[in-house]
Amino acid sequence: MNQVTPYNQTQAKKEQVAQMFDNIAFRYDFLNSLLSMGIHKGWRKKAVKILTQKKPKYILDVASGTADFAIEALKTGAQKVVGVDISEGMLAVGKEKIKKQNLEKNIELQIADAEHLPFSNNTFDAVTVGFGVRNFEHLEAGLQDMLRVLKPGGTLVVIEFSKPSGFFSWIYKGYFKYVTPMVGKLFSKDSRAYSYLPESVAVFPYGAHFCDILQQCGYQKVYFKKLTLGIACIYVAEK
Ligand SMILES: C[S@@+](CC[C@H](N)C(=O)[O-])C[C@H]1O[C@@H](n2cnc3c(N)ncnc32)[C@H](O)[C@@H]1O
Repeated sequence: MNQVTPYNQTQAKKEQVAQMFDNIAFRYDFLNSLLSMGIHKGWRKKAVKILTQKKPKYILDVASGTADFAIEALKTGAQKVVGVDISEGMLAVGKEKIKKQNLEKNIELQIADAEHLPFSNNTFDAVTVGFGVRNFEHLEAGLQDMLRVLKPGGTLVVIEFSKPSGFFSWIYKGYFKYVTPMVGKLFSKDSRAYSYLPESVAVFPYGAHFCDILQQCGYQKVYFKKLTLGIACIYVAEK
């Protein structure tokens, strides 16, 4: 089966993803809050609570986008958070936010690809990824490079959409498949971005399956927690 991509099957997924996030960057935060009714903020807080127990000093936030996870990750008490992303547009919004909150000394954002991280082996105490892994062109390559830059014993925390089960799944499916693309198109002016979202979630591994992939990539002590009836999951793993 062809990979789910934002626009076409000819151009590399990575280029399309960067272009899509550049297109929607100006509306990304607003739509996140509107479409999730603010719930996404609580998900990042939960992930950071888990990470706080590990007392990380130096954190890498991959697929940092507009820097919400990087800003939340600083609340672990870390000295420094470095955020990387392939979308200039998303990072521009993030940099503005960091400046407004006077966090420039502690949070640094830079363009970089999760599959080719510009850092030495064993650099970070923790790596975070919020809603990013699903967008990687080569999932395993990204997970392996994040493992490479983690220090031995370091922690990976991933948040990604999952699939709820039971009665609630029917309500959610309708909302995600029909309401999300409609509202997204209206506000973001990108007719594909918010239909790519449910399509990419539909084919992405979740729960125990994603844990297996983490283990195959070399991570240890892997576990996951469901968030809000299984709409998303937090995955925790160690190097
Ligand atoms: C849905 S946004 C998530 C942003 C942020 N982490 C959050 O929690 O809101 C996904 C981000 O992943 C980035 N991305 C996708 N593939 C990437 C890659 N290979 N390397 C780095 N960033 C990537 C996109 O550019 C986009 O900004």
